Amino acid sequence: MINYRGNKLSVENKYVLKIAKNNQTPFYLYSAKAIKDNFEQFCRVFKKINPLICFSVKSNSNPKILRILKGLGAGADVVSGGELLKVLNAGISPKKIVFSGVGKSTDELKMAIKRKILLINAESYSEIALINKLSKSSKRKTSIGLRLNPDIDAKTLGKISTGRAVDKFGLSRKKLIEVCKNLKEFKHIELNSLSVHIGSQILSDIPFKKTLKVIEEIIRKTKTHFKFIDLGGGFGISYSSKEKRIKLNNYSNLVNKFKKKYNCNIIFEPGRAIIGNTGILVSKIQYIKNSISKSFVIIDAGMNDFMRPALYGAYHSIVPLIKSKSQSMKNLEFVGPICETSCKFSSYKKYYKIKEEDYVAILDVGAYGSVLSSNYNTKPLPAEILIDKNHVKIIRKRQSLSEIIKN
Ligand SMILES: Cc1ncc(COP(=O)(O)O)c(C=O)c1O
Repeated sequence: MINYRGNKLSVENKYVLKIAKNNQTPFYLYSAKAIKDNFEQFCRVFKKINPLICFSVKSNSNPKILRILKGLGAGADVVSGGELLKVLNAGISPKKIVFSGVGKSTDELKMAIKRKILLINAESYSEIALINKLSKSSKRKTSIGLRLNPDIDAKTLGKISTGRAVDKFGLSRKKLIEVCKNLKEFKHIELNSLSVHIGSQILSDIPFKKTLKVIEEIIRKTKTHFKFIDLGGGFGISYSSKEKRIKLNNYSNLVNKFKKKYNCNIIFEPGRAIIGNTGILVSKIQYIKNSISKSFVIIDAGMNDFMRPALYGAYHSIVPLIKSKSQSMKNLEFVGPICETSCKFSSYKKYYKIKEEDYVAILDVGAYGSVLSSNYNTKPLPAEILIDKNHVKIIRKRQSLSEIIKN
């Protein structure tokens, strides 16, 4: 969906250069068809299991994208009251919404209780007690899940690992077993699920398989029947040729056996696997500055527009909108305009011929891209544009300077 036609980068059948000339850079550009294809592919892999797929809204919360996913049958995994309101506005049924997060506020919990969402995935004893208290005052019983910290290393970047004992997420095995034993004291909650999410950008199915074993141990030890087992997200994509997209068929078979054995419904919470490779960030080269050791290619997109490289040291490939036949430039580094040394992107030993005022695209920015953009250095938020059935639609307008400088 996002590839070269001849030497011109295209999204679906549109030349990106044409869109760049008509819109102020930097901007995000997505393919609706790619989103649909990824979602359907995910459904196919897990078809036998018939899971509820709760799209992880933290990865991309553009309302138009949420509506596309809703149309495909997705539910939502939210991590804040704001995300909850967004998905309800997009028309996603409360019965398909799960609420994750280690520090939900009282107001956020009240909102979730009032809307009767499918599950609030609680992460501490105190949170369970608070849900119980709030549910009692609104005279209802709330459906909850318990998030397990299985102490499994997902072998991904340290900053996006969530399932080790040292990570803040979930309840340890011991604590979770203890909580299950004492749940009777909470009359206003109904325990319906056990959930896990061990990290993001996981490229091997081994950590997932190990997690399934820990869940079996918990079920055995607590003698509890969980109506839902929520296996989280985390499925990796390939950001470079070195990273192979995770193969999930084997895992799918294993989950299917598990589902039959324990007679439960399965929930997944994918974000990146659905949206990651469906978007690019289009940017213009402002200056090329030669230093002793390399050339800095200074583009107009910065860490305020796209934070993953600065935040996690994540690699994202950068390509020119018009590709020259040969590679002639040496030792260059793409950097942004923000006054931070970490406002930099990828480096290349060899690169296509490029010059000032040419355009480039940072690839695979659909997940954790726009959602992490900020007004740092008092820069406006970039626009988001979607190609949908041959139409170029602005799905978020670029913020104006006047909007951000007013008090
Ligand atoms: C609880 C939870 N579920 C799902 C996800 C989605 O992860 P991914 O985008 O890697 O699929 C996250 C993101 O880290 C998360 O925190």
